[in-house]
Amino acid sequence: MATIFDFSSRQVFVFGGTSGINLGIARSFARAGANVAVASRSQDKVDAAVAELVELGSDSRGYSLDVRDPEAVKTALATHSEYAAGIDILISGAAGNFPAFAKDMSANAFKSVIDIDLLGSFNVLSAALPYLVKPGASVINISAPQAYLAMPMQSHVCAAKAGVDMLTRTLALEWGPMGIRINSIAPGPIADTEGFRRLIPNEKIAEQTRRSVPLQRFGASSEIGDAAMFLCSDAAAYISGVVLPVDGGWSVAGASAAALAMAHKPQGK
Ligand code: COA
Ligand code: NAP
Repeated sequence: MATIFDFSSRQVFVFGGTSGINLGIARSFARAGANVAVASRSQDKVDAAVAELVELGSDSRGYSLDVRDPEAVKTALATHSEYAAGIDILISGAAGNFPAFAKDMSANAFKSVIDIDLLGSFNVLSAALPYLVKPGASVINISAPQAYLAMPMQSHVCAAKAGVDMLTRTLALEWGPMGIRINSIAPGPIADTEGFRRLIPNEKIAEQTRRSVPLQRFGASSEIGDAAMFLCSDAAAYISGVVLPVDGGWSVAGASAAALAMAHKPQGK
């Protein structure tokens, strides 16, 4: 797949980069010449992702860890940065989601998503800071439309991703003077992903959702990769602290309606 971007010899680290959207981002950077490291919990997923990225020409390494464990995150970043001599591009995208009404969630259920998405992002970002190339590094947090659109059965994700976007904004203030840019990408419904399968469980809801996207189609992980490469390129050198929806216009037209249709399906339909 041709790309207009050139990230030759750049060092990229993608947390949660072993499947779905984040693996799509990792592939995009690898195809553009970067060396891409990935991390997630499952050693099998880490091994498979690394093998695929190496096939694409990347000098890749993988780390099996849980972003809820700050010491494990620190160790992986220290080990990798010694090998790679620093990190040019950091993507923080590890996340968990399940549809559940707030009334049906235990405190631990709500906390598990806050711990992975929000606290996990803080763990990754704060542990990476010493190794980010200064000036010049670019950081992307993977957010979601739930950060700014209230959705039923998503109170945990809405709270967590809204927090992630405020981390993006506050760290843009704190890290800007060091020459580090940080932005969020909020993907819309992206086909063939775990998040999509969990929230859009059948054909009928898929069709309703597809029609609620102004561009009338689902997105592809490669399109999130394209947006990530743009934000990390020199073409975005003056962009920091933004939340970029990459969603076919979904966030301005009907995402809440689609989620409501899922949660409150009329009887007999
Ligand atoms: N409804 C209500 N509560 C639920 C739930 C559901 N559908 N699924 C899990 N929970 C609760 C569990 O019961 C548990 O609470 P409890 O201890 O009070 O019983 C809590 O959430 C944590 O569950 P557990 O399975 O121990 O968490 P985990 O840390 O192993 O896994 C998840 C985290 C739950 C987010 C899991 O779905 C996951 O690993 N997801 C990653 C993949 C993913 O979600 N991809 C989409 C990306 S957005
Ligand atoms: P996914 O394939 O399940 O991606 C989640 C990744 O994070 C996996 O690599 C997973 O691997 C890893 N992960 C999960 N919990 C972790 C933990 N505690 N520690 C370390 N790694 C962990 O799902 P996806 O749908 O592509 O979602 C990717 C990102 O896009 C998420 O941030 C999600 O919120 C966002 N998003 C998705 C959509 C969509 O349509 N899919 C829309 C908007 C936003 P392991 O299981 O090996 O840990």
